[in-house]
Amino acid sequence: MANLRMFTGEGIPLEMHKVRIVQKLRLIPIEDRLKAITEAGNNTFLLQNCDVFLDMLTDSGVNAMSDNQLAAMITADDSYAGSATFTRLADKFTELFGTKYFLPAHQGRACEHILAKAYVTPGSVVPMNFHFTTTKAHITECGGSVEEVVIDEARISKGNCPFKGNSDIGKLRAVIEKSGPAKIPFVRLEAGTNLVGGQPFSLENMKDVRKVCNEYGLMLVLDASLLQDNLYFIKTREESCKHKTIREITREMADLCDIIYFSARKLGAARGGGMITNSEKVYKALRPMVPLYEGFLTYGGMSVREMEAMTVGLEETMDEEVINQGPQFIEYMVNQLDRKGIPVVTPAGGLGCHLDAREFIPHVPQDQYPAGALAAAMFIAGGVRGMERGTLSEQRNPDGSERLADMELLRLALPRRVFTLSQVKYAIDRIQWLYENRALVGGLKFIEEPPVLRFFFGLLTPVSDWQQKLAAKFRADLGDSL
Ligand code: F0G
Repeated sequence: MANLRMFTGEGIPLEMHKVRIVQKLRLIPIEDRLKAITEAGNNTFLLQNCDVFLDMLTDSGVNAMSDNQLAAMITADDSYAGSATFTRLADKFTELFGTKYFLPAHQGRACEHILAKAYVTPGSVVPMNFHFTTTKAHITECGGSVEEVVIDEARISKGNCPFKGNSDIGKLRAVIEKSGPAKIPFVRLEAGTNLVGGQPFSLENMKDVRKVCNEYGLMLVLDASLLQDNLYFIKTREESCKHKTIREITREMADLCDIIYFSARKLGAARGGGMITNSEKVYKALRPMVPLYEGFLTYGGMSVREMEAMTVGLEETMDEEVINQGPQFIEYMVNQLDRKGIPVVTPAGGLGCHLDAREFIPHVPQDQYPAGALAAAMFIAGGVRGMERGTLSEQRNPDGSERLADMELLRLALPRRVFTLSQVKYAIDRIQWLYENRALVGGLKFIEEPPVLRFFFGLLTPVSDWQQKLAAKFRADLGDSL
């Protein structure tokens, strides 16, 4: 696919796989979509899957598995302790990442829980390129705080910087100098920086971060949940890495880290998670918490089937023809929208296509959650379920005031190898219709606001009858179309 050129010159993300198992979808009429989103408290997390046409909420745990992954699941060795399945997985980590120790956990946030319990104390400061919701929640639960050191370009949705997830080394130094290295339990880097639009960092930048960690004697922790996209971007966008294999880049990245943790709901296209390290000291510090919070050391809350799928999925992650599928579909969607003048995060990153809600609906004030409003509007317009990644996904300040997000994004995730090009084209069509009618979209307000990770269960209502007006306009424009 990397070398494919179409006779017509058209650029399409050609699928390098065939579909052999399918799930029937349902597209309900707009009146029913309006009813469903109202019942879900305008929160796309609370929609029922049977009401959703294209589920672009996340790629977490919903990437399509390969035939080899499914086959491996059948041969899993089930046992509470010492299963051969666990050994196969642990060996795969050693082979690919060069690490000695593997600590399993049931998913990514479980690793964050254990890392925060082990290293974060009241007053701790954790510098990172950018926070992720669950990461920050675990750090603040333990009395610590997060300092973001991502480059300024990351907070501007339009751009052509190939590595918007890079850390600003000057900012990193300033944070360390200000709080003092003694208060810093570790520096965290997030591959495929989720909340700024799935944007990667470069290997060169990672090396610079490592140098600073060495200077101050700090541990470097990599969140490798979105590593596969980041690997692809390093390989294709970083001049000095073009000749390297994905395997070589993986190993080079791993060698720079003290601890790597991940959500295997993303990495390895399975479900589960874990932490890997070469340090016996780290291993011994973390190990007691695995049986306490997760499960015995040879499963950590995962089923052996998922572990088998992960072993194969990790190997497949080393295949550029496999990991290029996500970024190439995303690039197609982003570029089509960008060409129509619709505000999207550029350059295209991993994970999904990100609409910039602040520019899409500039008339909706930030304290009326524009990205959340756009998520509700998108579902009404097309039965497409996205995820709010803006102020709703933030935690309130300690004094209770609203913390306005730097970016108001509606993320339309593209789980790998799940959607076809015609489905992506349908989504683009409905986004275009919504953009034409953006003046009709209004804001949201809370009717029930949970204190922690409020975006998961919060219930909201529109500030006016804008949703009825939007549905009526759809009927006027598109007749009896679904
Ligand atoms: N780190 C990153 C970068 C993530 O994207 C996620 C999850 C986690 C940690 C937590 O992992 O879900 O297995 O507990 N991201 C999902 C998403 C939820 O939809 O982006 P988890």
